[in-house]
Amino acid sequence: MSIANDSALAERYQAQAYASIVFSFSHPDRLAAIARLHGLEAADPQTARVLEIGCASGLNLLSIAACFPSAELLGIDLDGVAIQKACQRQKSLGLENIRFEQSDLLEWDSDGLEFDYIIAHGFFSWVPDSVKEQLLVRIQQCLAPNGVALISYLTQPGSMGREAARDFLALHTSGNKSPHKVMERAREAAHFLSALTSSRNPPGNPLAPVADYLLRKNPDVLFHDELGPIYDPCYFLQFMEWAGEHGLQFLSEARLVDHAPEIFPEAARRLLDDSPIDRLRLEQYRDYAANRSFRRSLLCPAAARLSPVPDASAVKGFSLSLNVRLSFEMLDLSEGVSMRFETPSGVVLTTSEPVAKAAYCLLSEIKTVSVSFQELLRRVTATLDSLSLPNTEDTAKQLSNALLLGAYRGLLDLSLDGSLSSGQPLSDDHPFSRLQALLAEEGLPALDTWRRQMRRTNP
Ligand SMILES: C[S@@+](CC[C@H](N)C(=O)[O-])C[C@H]1O[C@@H](n2cnc3c(N)ncnc32)[C@H](O)[C@@H]1O
Repeated sequence: MSIANDSALAERYQAQAYASIVFSFSHPDRLAAIARLHGLEAADPQTARVLEIGCASGLNLLSIAACFPSAELLGIDLDGVAIQKACQRQKSLGLENIRFEQSDLLEWDSDGLEFDYIIAHGFFSWVPDSVKEQLLVRIQQCLAPNGVALISYLTQPGSMGREAARDFLALHTSGNKSPHKVMERAREAAHFLSALTSSRNPPGNPLAPVADYLLRKNPDVLFHDELGPIYDPCYFLQFMEWAGEHGLQFLSEARLVDHAPEIFPEAARRLLDDSPIDRLRLEQYRDYAANRSFRRSLLCPAAARLSPVPDASAVKGFSLSLNVRLSFEMLDLSEGVSMRFETPSGVVLTTSEPVAKAAYCLLSEIKTVSVSFQELLRRVTATLDSLSLPNTEDTAKQLSNALLLGAYRGLLDLSLDGSLSSGQPLSDDHPFSRLQALLAEEGLPALDTWRRQMRRTNP
């Protein structure tokens, strides 16, 4: 049960601003690609109507507006100071396709508006139950029949460790009133936890993975997300029950890697094969397997017809970007010879298929950050031809399957529009260049052309 009301929350956000940042997984070009994989003809991101609820000072939405001048965007937030800042940024960027409104979601007048994409990131688990309910009501009311909503939320069982860490943070920061002091003490607590859970500690300490997570977070995020008055994780199935009561169904996670089958060890996979369970239950089992503490779930109207299994042929209409450095030891594209591709974090993809090997080699070489499927197909075909390797009518199919596999392993991002990242330099007065200049002026990390925010490291 929630304990804080909206005005107490608003005061807390006003006392310490939440630095809004850009979340590339929430961008309509990615959401559209995932929707299309599942057979939902989501709206073209270039002209989409996008709503962000709890947009804070607007950077996420501004980064979308700067890419898609013909899209229409609206951001709402309870915090008047954050909205003022968002409006200032919008004015200085001269963007006319976006507006911000200071409003409590409980009282917001949606005025019959309809949206193709609705984003509520970092919101659901931190607001009172009445606001959670209202979020689902608004999505049901305002989402287009082929629309996609993204809601992120804390999940069990993984949040148990985070709750214990939160109790420790509360203990270590207790007695401090000023947000500045609380944030300083919270960082200290994160360092302390990290030291506590180092290798000499008993194995299996549930705080160990949380300590790393806390160290990566900025102090303002610790102040609001970990130390705020409401912290309300739920199980995935519980969340989906609420969503279902509001006429919404599960589409996918916003990050395809969160569906990777490798999360189940071989023996567990065999048990699941012997007694299959439905898709939602499988997702819940996945959370147990991964001890997941956070989800970014995509929902769409229950009436929409979806294909639960992603359709690889949809990849033919996408742009692709390798989002990690891929290394491989020996280069041999011949049929039947296995090649092992590896990321710095140890994700391994092994394949002996010439098309898949050629695609991954080419993607690791391509200097521009994104390439269209058709362009990659052209280059793969040319490579196979130059080596006199078989190049059949099936090449396109094999390529889309290989790329889909890479996307589910977390190696690739799929997008419906790659125009910004096609390697053509942007003019200085392109809205995206102006946004980059504004970020630099404000001392904030730059975005790459794939709209991924460069990481800023914590002290
Ligand atoms: C944790 S911040 C997340 C901000 C941003 N979405 C992000 O992830 O960086 C939550 C935001 O929701 C806003 N918020 C909380 N309750 C709200 C309500 N009832 N109506 C509108 N906005 C609300 C807060 O003011 C705050 O800016």
